[in-house]
Amino acid sequence: MNKLLIANWKMNPDSAAEAVRLARAEDLNGVVVAPPFIFLERVKKVLRRAQLAGQDVFLSEPRAATGEISPYMLKQVGVGYVIVGHSERRRLVGETDELISKKVQAALKAGLKVVLCVGELKRDLRSKIYDLRKAKNFVKKQLIKDLKGLNLKSYGLSLIIAYEPVWAIGTGTPDNPASAAEMIKYIKKILNLRYHGLNPRVLYGGSVTAKNAAGFLRRPEIDGALVGGASLKAGEFKKIWTVSN
Ligand code: PGA
Repeated sequence: MNKLLIANWKMNPDSAAEAVRLARAEDLNGVVVAPPFIFLERVKKVLRRAQLAGQDVFLSEPRAATGEISPYMLKQVGVGYVIVGHSERRRLVGETDELISKKVQAALKAGLKVVLCVGELKRDLRSKIYDLRKAKNFVKKQLIKDLKGLNLKSYGLSLIIAYEPVWAIGTGTPDNPASAAEMIKYIKKILNLRYHGLNPRVLYGGSVTAKNAAGFLRRPEIDGALVGGASLKAGEFKKIWTVSN
């Protein structure tokens, strides 16, 4: 099965010209490019194969929400996917599970595909694969809170989960593929049990590079990757894409 690769540029690059250059280089099948809002329209114009994502979204109501962008606005500029609940937004902007669950609902209702990010904050890196219990509990609780009140029967197919252990994001210390696969298997199992057969794609994110991508992407449980830092280097991202195909 083809893997999904999401290029999360975060608050980069500095110029529209550079965004367009990067988008051209990453315009590949199975890729979703997530530029900052301000570059969405410019990037959309040059994409032929890749899809477009927002890095965040607000709610559909109230309209009096200064500084925010609604799901319908994103759709209008050709966005198909949106990242919700990224750990950087939880940490830097103070997004709560309550707000995240509302965003997930608003975006799905508007017809966007949602990439919901979850992941534990810390892990005892000396612990073995079989001792993922604490992390699993944390992720389970986060999923339940973030999907609260959602009618997954109607929207389940548009939901994607990104498992991103926070300690692995931007640190150069990725999870190991075996334990990421185990966590992802667990996420699939609890969603399936709790939400009547819900079977979303689950990606791994956290310091994925050209060097380590194969270890993650060759695992059958891992349906793709959310790539941050390495997606800002076109050559490196292309290597990750080659592995994913
Ligand atoms: P990273 O970021 O690849 O730079 O660790 C991943 C992410 O935050 O989505």
